[in-house]
Amino acid sequence: MAGGAIVNTRGGKDYPGKLTLFVFLTCVVAATGGLIFGYDIGISGGVTSMDSFLQKFFPEVYKKEKSAKSTNQYCKFDSQLLTTFTSSLYLAALIASFFASVVTRTFGRKWSMFGGGLVFLIGAALNGAAKNVLMLILGRILLGVGVGFANQSVPVYLSEMAPARLRGMLNIGFQLMITIGILAANLINFGTAKIKGGWGWRVSLALAAVPAGIITLGALFLPDTPNSLIERGHSEEAKHMLRRIRGTDDVDEEYDDLVVASRESERVKHPWANIVKRKYRPQLTMTILIPLFQQLTGINVIMFYAPVLFKTIGFGDDASLMSAVITGLVNVFATFVSIFTVDKLGRRKLFLQGGSQMLVCQILVGTLIAIKFGTSGEGHFSKSYAAFVVLFICVYVAGFAWSWGPLGWLVPSEIFPLEIRSAGQSINVSVNMLFTFVIAQVFLAMLCHMKFGLFYFFAGWVLIMTVFIALFLPETKNVPIEEMILVWKAHWFWGKFIADDDIHVGNVEMGIDRSKNNI
Ligand code: BGC
Repeated sequence: MAGGAIVNTRGGKDYPGKLTLFVFLTCVVAATGGLIFGYDIGISGGVTSMDSFLQKFFPEVYKKEKSAKSTNQYCKFDSQLLTTFTSSLYLAALIASFFASVVTRTFGRKWSMFGGGLVFLIGAALNGAAKNVLMLILGRILLGVGVGFANQSVPVYLSEMAPARLRGMLNIGFQLMITIGILAANLINFGTAKIKGGWGWRVSLALAAVPAGIITLGALFLPDTPNSLIERGHSEEAKHMLRRIRGTDDVDEEYDDLVVASRESERVKHPWANIVKRKYRPQLTMTILIPLFQQLTGINVIMFYAPVLFKTIGFGDDASLMSAVITGLVNVFATFVSIFTVDKLGRRKLFLQGGSQMLVCQILVGTLIAIKFGTSGEGHFSKSYAAFVVLFICVYVAGFAWSWGPLGWLVPSEIFPLEIRSAGQSINVSVNMLFTFVIAQVFLAMLCHMKFGLFYFFAGWVLIMTVFIALFLPETKNVPIEEMILVWKAHWFWGKFIADDDIHVGNVEMGIDRSKNNI
């Protein structure tokens, strides 16, 4: 057996080394990059429902909302101008992620994180101090740029730092921080909405500086990944780093494999031209479809509009905000389930279980709403009936939180070879942002037109994506990141796209366990 590397029975090659405190801490710091994204997802819905904010920046919307006396519950909150404001951030993030891919590849993952944090910080300051709509929108664009850079670099950083058998767990730190950011924002809005002087929204927006400060400062202290150091020609430093993060001197084998990957990477001068080559078709397909499907689960309908949705089904103001806090808590705690199971059960089982759970809940919620509101949108929920709806929404959120939420960031960051990893991750971020934008834009109008059918619409998509995963996603748990190509090569469908001489992994034995990897 050449070089002694074995693809183990769990489907991956085992390198020596353990989870060191050093790698754990660097991953925790890097994962805080998720806070800025989460904070933003959670904060805008609450702020745009504050009267003082609307009066100052969107007086027309405010007037309309106050004078509207429609009894149709489905159409109460349909306002395009506001959704445009909210979702402008996602367009900025979409574009920024392409620039981030160049920075991440050329200067390292660390500087993308640092830059993202810094730009976000400036955006938060502009927003908190906003005197007119222009400042507000400019601030929002900067926030978007920050999110684009952070989401492009953090997942890749985490996947490269982690030892293969714990990669899922450490990578999901990013999603955990997203959910903590969302929850913190919900709680802050709950408090600032009560501020009498009409400046509560300023506090909400300015506090975005806190998570931004954390990742900006944190990034300064982070080392870069061995993969990126080798790719940029710092071989000695890379070896030193690998010893440090694996807690052993016995890293030659992993190091050699990284060097092989890096040599391949060097030959690719134009990742964007390369990524469309036939041999990368499986990864390209996944990095487009996974974020697309993640958004088509309908999760952001809950994340952005939970208060509005709860008001729609007859909750009072406070109860609506409270329910948003409840779904936020479920989101955080359920994420731990994936942290502790993703490297044991694997990605596929979580995808399939979480998807089925979401599907059932969506059908139940849609039906419960249909029974009371029908198609006219007129009706009323009793307290216990509403409690059932909230319960099923929580079970739905939990299903997302241990499947499509974390895996939507983990899987695309771990399936690409080094030479196109940065480019692949930008596609992931931009597709994610594009569809976050689309959902934010059209949800209120869709609710107004499709009524309870909206829940069936998302349920239909969840069914499609679950079948897709069952058929086309091979298991990637425990497989070293630079050897992932073996998993694709062995897959019943994707194998056809990869020729034998496309495979240049170091000392590897083609011993992947087919039954364990669904291939
Ligand atoms: C998604 C976000 C979503 C969040 C909810 C993330 O993985 O990308 O769009 O709002 O999960 O926790």
